[in-house]
Amino acid sequence: YQILNGKYSLPGLPAIYATEDTKADTLIITLEDTRHCFYVHIYYGVLENLDIITRAVCIENHCSDDLYFENIQSTCVDYLHGNFNFHTFYGRHVKERTHQKSPLQHGIQSIGSTRGTSSHQYNPFFILSEQDTTEDTGNCYGFSLLYSGDFSGLAEYDQYDQTRILLGIHPDNFYYCIKPGEKFYAPETAMAFSDCGLGNLSHIYHKAYRNNLCRGKYKTARRPILLNSWEGVYFDFDGDKLVQMAKDASELGVELFVMDDGWFGKRDLDVSGLGDWLVNEEKLGCTLGELSERIYKLGLKFGIWFEPECVNEDSNLYRAHPDWALQVPGKAPCRSRYQLVLDFSREDVRDYIFTHICQVLDSAKIEYLKWDFNRSISDIYSAKLPAKRQGEVAHRYILGLYDMLEKLIQRYPDILIEGCSGGGGRFDAGMLYYTPQIWCSDDTDAIERLSIQYGTSFGYPVSTMGSHVSKCPNEQTGRMTPLNTRATVAMSGTFGYELDVNQMSDEEKALVKAQIKEFKSYDSLIQNGNYYRLTDPSEAQSYHSWEFVAEDKSEALLCIVSLQIHPNGPGNYIKLKGLDPHSAYLIDGKKYPGDVLMNGGLLLPFAKAEYESFRIHITRC
Ligand code: DGJ
Repeated sequence: YQILNGKYSLPGLPAIYATEDTKADTLIITLEDTRHCFYVHIYYGVLENLDIITRAVCIENHCSDDLYFENIQSTCVDYLHGNFNFHTFYGRHVKERTHQKSPLQHGIQSIGSTRGTSSHQYNPFFILSEQDTTEDTGNCYGFSLLYSGDFSGLAEYDQYDQTRILLGIHPDNFYYCIKPGEKFYAPETAMAFSDCGLGNLSHIYHKAYRNNLCRGKYKTARRPILLNSWEGVYFDFDGDKLVQMAKDASELGVELFVMDDGWFGKRDLDVSGLGDWLVNEEKLGCTLGELSERIYKLGLKFGIWFEPECVNEDSNLYRAHPDWALQVPGKAPCRSRYQLVLDFSREDVRDYIFTHICQVLDSAKIEYLKWDFNRSISDIYSAKLPAKRQGEVAHRYILGLYDMLEKLIQRYPDILIEGCSGGGGRFDAGMLYYTPQIWCSDDTDAIERLSIQYGTSFGYPVSTMGSHVSKCPNEQTGRMTPLNTRATVAMSGTFGYELDVNQMSDEEKALVKAQIKEFKSYDSLIQNGNYYRLTDPSEAQSYHSWEFVAEDKSEALLCIVSLQIHPNGPGNYIKLKGLDPHSAYLIDGKKYPGDVLMNGGLLLPFAKAEYESFRIHITRC
């Protein structure tokens, strides 16, 4: 073994990094397989003040033959004692990361993805908690994989009542050749322990991911409040319409205008054009440079949507390079949203796409990029690799994706990149290394978002959750919710709007203006404060609530959404968390001792209608 100062990094893969004030050491334990002549180097990163231990694995072939591996897991942890619950975050498109807790039974319980992405279905993060663990008490252990592709996570409760955890790349379709002298790195896991409940476990991840995983200017800078064109106009726009949207938005205080899908190639629907990253000047009625200039003149930043990894068959790119899409020879590929997946394991394919993205970015003033990916990956076969090595393609694809994102952030360090995958299909710690925020879900309904953002909060900070106010009736559920409630929920994320301001009444516009002003006054509290889950929306009867508390406990923001109204119901007292018990706090001009607010609770305002919401600002006297 070796013990080194500082935290290791992994070539081509995301990893937690140490900053100047992080105490970090690396332990490398080397095992040798003498029969097959290879080493396994197990890397541990010990980040004392983050309270995180990371682990990754490197396999080194030191024999003279190729070695083929079928399964390389990043982390294996054994518990000699304990009777655990397994917390996972499952879902589907428009219903991502729903929290589920189930007791471990004898046998194996597992989650995973073989969709080529970390997926909407299971998130690569789980928790083991002892039976009596709550938000505030008890022992619990978190396991988070910094990887965006196929993964497998399992917990086995065995015949001696012992528990084994395994987490790493999914072994299905994995068959990797390591040539003599070569090394293979398996992705990092970040492990954390809390002896005071799930809330504290989340705080450990929130701080580590905010400060030691996310990178770039927007790691600390406030994210601009944006207006995204998608749900407002979908594909139906031209330059003038966009400028009008931006103008309306700028009058309300919006800071960034994002032109979503539809600005390139032949793209008036999702059936064509993907892959042709040439600005459709005929549709816009101007060049991209001119459009961005008009938007800048309104005092707004300008952002743009891309889906670099995919291609429509009806595109010039596919017609010129059909072999650039992943497909099994002799079999018709499986389409999804009328598109195929480009072979990002190939450098030539990536170079081509990268060059075209750069040409677009260089042709205008662009400060934000939404990197979307709208399907699962199937037909995993690369024309560049021999049949025997096709088991490498899924992982090489992810390495290719990371390589391209790294090049992009190196070349454009000031562009804010927001990840997206049909909403939250690739919301994982791996992507956060490149994109400090990720669109949480295509479900913008405020009530649905409560459980999506609640589930996401277990492993990821609020500053990473893309969240917008959209129009009503909601596009996904048809539900009506007050504009105030939509803002309460979106403010507990990166905060933005996704509607056509032009369609709003003067009263609504005034509300939006006030919301933006209010959000700006809370920005640091929300982005950097400690986030507390006060209720579980799946159990909540009358309301759901959560709270942000400043690190120095000087202020807090309590958010409440009413879910059901019960006439003549009891008063609802909510017990706050994280305040200073010895200080007094001001709420609406009234003084309350911190310990009373935390142990007795604050009587909530009576909601007059379902889905009404409240934001209560609390300041230390
Ligand atoms: C899926 C994303 O999640 C949406 O926000 C939007 O960008 C569409 N793709 C555009 O095609």
